[in-house]
Amino acid sequence: MLLVALLALAAVHTAAAMGVVGIDYGTESTKISLVKPGMPFDVVLSRDSKRKVPSAVAWKMQERLHGSDATSLATRFPGDTFVAAKLLMGRSFDDANAPARERVAGLLNTELFASQRGTCEARRATDYTTDKSGADTYTVEELVGAQLSHARTLAEETAGEEFRRSYPGSVGNFGGLDVVITVPVFWTAAERQSMMDAAEIAGFKPRLVSDGAAVGVNYAQSRTFATPERHLFYDAGAGSTRATIVEFSTKTVQAESVISIGSMQKEAVVVDVLSAGWNREASGLALDLLIRDVLADKFTEGHAAKLSKPVREQPRAMARLLKEANRVKHILSANAEASVNIEGLADDIDFRSRLSREDFEALVEKAGLTSAFGEPVAEALRNAKMKIGDLTSVVLVGGMSRVPLVQAALRAAGVPDSKVAQNVNADEAAVMGAAFYGAEFNPQFRMKSIRAHDGNAYPVVLREKGGKDEVIFPQGPFLQERHERKYKDVHEDFSFEVAYAPSSKSKLDTFAPELYRIELVEIHNHLAGLKERGEIEQVDIDLNVTLVTQPLGIYSVESAWLNVKQKPTSIAGALRSFFNVGAQRSEAANASEPTVVVNATDDKNATAAAKPKKAKKPTPTDRSIRIVGRAVSVGSNRPMSGSELKTAKDRLYVANVEMRRRAAKEEARNVLEAYIYRARDIVHDENFGAASKRKERDDIAAKAEELSEWLNEREAELAPTDKLKSKLASLQALVSPVEKRMAEQSGRGAAVRRFTKALEETRAFVVQARANLSEALAAGTGSKYSTAELDTLNGNVERDDKWYREGEAKQARKKADEDPVFKVDELDKRVKKLRDTVKRLASRRIPKTRPPKKSKEAKSSSSATSESATASPAASDAPPKHEEL
Ligand SMILES: *[C@@H]1O[C@H](CO)[C@@H](O)[C@H](O)[C@H]1NC(C)=O
Ligand SMILES: *[C@@H]1O[C@H](CO)[C@@H](O)[C@H](O)[C@H]1NC(C)=O
Ligand SMILES: *[C@@H]1O[C@H](CO)[C@@H](O)[C@H](O)[C@H]1NC(C)=O
Ligand SMILES: *[C@@H]1O[C@H](CO)[C@@H](O)[C@H](O)[C@H]1NC(C)=O
Ligand SMILES: *[C@@H]1O[C@H](CO)[C@@H](O)[C@H](O)[C@H]1NC(C)=O
Repeated sequence: MLLVALLALAAVHTAAAMGVVGIDYGTESTKISLVKPGMPFDVVLSRDSKRKVPSAVAWKMQERLHGSDATSLATRFPGDTFVAAKLLMGRSFDDANAPARERVAGLLNTELFASQRGTCEARRATDYTTDKSGADTYTVEELVGAQLSHARTLAEETAGEEFRRSYPGSVGNFGGLDVVITVPVFWTAAERQSMMDAAEIAGFKPRLVSDGAAVGVNYAQSRTFATPERHLFYDAGAGSTRATIVEFSTKTVQAESVISIGSMQKEAVVVDVLSAGWNREASGLALDLLIRDVLADKFTEGHAAKLSKPVREQPRAMARLLKEANRVKHILSANAEASVNIEGLADDIDFRSRLSREDFEALVEKAGLTSAFGEPVAEALRNAKMKIGDLTSVVLVGGMSRVPLVQAALRAAGVPDSKVAQNVNADEAAVMGAAFYGAEFNPQFRMKSIRAHDGNAYPVVLREKGGKDEVIFPQGPFLQERHERKYKDVHEDFSFEVAYAPSSKSKLDTFAPELYRIELVEIHNHLAGLKERGEIEQVDIDLNVTLVTQPLGIYSVESAWLNVKQKPTSIAGALRSFFNVGAQRSEAANASEPTVVVNATDDKNATAAAKPKKAKKPTPTDRSIRIVGRAVSVGSNRPMSGSELKTAKDRLYVANVEMRRRAAKEEARNVLEAYIYRARDIVHDENFGAASKRKERDDIAAKAEELSEWLNEREAELAPTDKLKSKLASLQALVSPVEKRMAEQSGRGAAVRRFTKALEETRAFVVQARANLSEALAAGTGSKYSTAELDTLNGNVERDDKWYREGEAKQARKKADEDPVFKVDELDKRVKKLRDTVKRLASRRIPKTRPPKKSKEAKSSSSATSESATASPAASDAPPKHEEL
């Protein structure tokens, strides 16, 4: 656990709570971290208190399961358990040869379908839906969205706070939780978009950070860099292997601050992701599948004749083999040999076998994966134009980096052991770094200053019709998140393309290099009037467009402006209609409504029409019109549309409500069950027996039996939570009176002691106070108390004493199985009242009675004293008539 003591809230008046959640959504497991002032910075634990949650979702009948509940279902209901969905994100169904799809289809044990968007959809093997609308089909984004929603629940429960929708640029609004999700640096726009859609379904809008950058930010937390250093972070994960070269340096940067207006200079560690190398095939999952397949072969060899159908066609058996393969892989990391033992694998046949590390490594070699694990290092160095000697160290992160064959691959790739540094919390470096990365955007977090520039794996070009490609976002660190562009003499709507540079093709796997067609529309409509009147030649029209990459790796138009300027040579006033009349309307014009340009060929009429505003704008001015810039996806699939997202969100929402309802019911059922067990036991308890009558115990036992039987019936299965709670109450109504009796009995002794002590002390107080009062009267000075007050207090003491003595006599005749005469609560209430009164009187500073000025007052006062002094205690037995104390 990494504790960051530096974390503190800045003294800004916005008291809104906040925090940043990092989510490292992996192919095999998901980690969640939380940075929140006042809490130790740590990972968020799963439902079963683990530091990671399996990346899986499953359905058991109507019930959705997550984490280990889902994976433990995989071997029984393989077709209803979805894992490794990450590998399908952003993929087109038509990537017919995409190894990833084949691999995942094999893992899911479910058929995959093409969605309307061209992406993949999975269908549950078991159909539990009542309607036949295909409700048991889930898009990849829905499968991932459900998992992110679970992560969200865990984080919110830990933080005691909810997520708000965050988006870069919303500076100054920092209530609630922000979220940062890690993605592989090589993820294409389609994959990133898929993650954004999944997050949107789960109800948040995250920042994305590459896992390499996150690991870098985490690395920088505890280090200083007097001189620039370059480190390579090597991460062999369940889904892919990547190497990221990160440069660390200390620089002076502009600090954004919500406290001071403007900005100031400060020192920060700058984290630049210089380059990356990766391999999508070299993965933990690929190794699991190799082992699974060889085990399937071994099993078939021995038992082919006895099998009803090939083991590969038995999903349950394959799921069990995969689970075993994962276990075997881990054993072979530390041992030369692993034994395999699965009972009743298929057709009730047991499977016993062995696999040696040697054979395993030979398999990996044969599959061409051995060198694949080393390749990313060479590629990252090549992209950064560096040699291994330029690196300060190679830091191993990720669960797989300790596997011997991976380490061997690194050595083969030219990484000497002396360069290798094992990171202490290698598994959690990315998720920790993700939260730190997010906190950097929030000036309310006082943290070590870090400025991270994530890496761009593919150069992005802008392609105009007939023009040449121009690189607008180069490979390397994202130093700029915007690209601004000016076009001159724009008279018509037009478009251009944004694509990955052709040089990236070999690294794009099966993803299309084409990204978006940027369409600038409405230009024609805005200029129609000018053209018609032949005035278009009188103006200079240029267009400026700002492209932005937010979240990183996804590109869109941030703004586009059509700037219309009157040429100096044009006849003054001729363009009034456009500049004045039109301006009023176009201000309000929106995307779907073309601006209406008033028909004003006649200067006179135009002037008349413009009259109301004439005073404000006497002469024509330049105009800027906001134009719509659409980024249309042109890859082989498209992102989810607004309505598709809404449908998916609603569906998840309903499922979540149902899940919570089930959880509440399950809880009520467990509580009832536990109470029945307790009731059954308690009737045999000695103390309980002493405090209860036989009939009471018999009633309890009978009720417990009745409820126990009821619980096993179908009616209980269907009963709503309220019903379960009322059943519980019916049993509690029998048990709790006895328990209260027991509690009274055991508490009474001490309560009585507290009570008699309070009586004694109050009496002593009254005696002393009366003496002081008399003294004050005699001396003619003021007193804190009045006679009446002390009389009243004394009356209360005597009344309480009488109440107690009478009660005590009655209580002595009571049996243990009868309700007591007086209760502990009542005794304590009376004690409190006496003590409060004494305290109030004793702490009084100002005299209640003033020194008598006239002898008459002194006389009446002294007579009052003598009266009360002679009053018998019995007299106070009368109902209290005194002032309220
Ligand atoms: C684009 O035009 C608008 C309106 O004239 C202006 O506010 C903005 O600064 C311009 N942007 C660039 C990059 O020129
Ligand atoms: C644009 O104008 C149309 C028609 O007046 C209206 O229905 C629509 O809501 C407007 N859209 C926006 C974004 O203002
Ligand atoms: C403008 O007005 C003239 C004369 O009133 C008419 O002939 C012409 O069609 C009008 N143009 C438009 C675009 O309404
Ligand atoms: C000019 O305005 C007058 C009155 O407002 C109208 O009758 C006439 O048709 C207009 N002329 C044009 C060309 O629009
Ligand atoms: C009575 O007076 C004495 C001496 O001034 C003081 O210490 C004591 O607290 C007083 N007692 C009460 C009950 O006021």
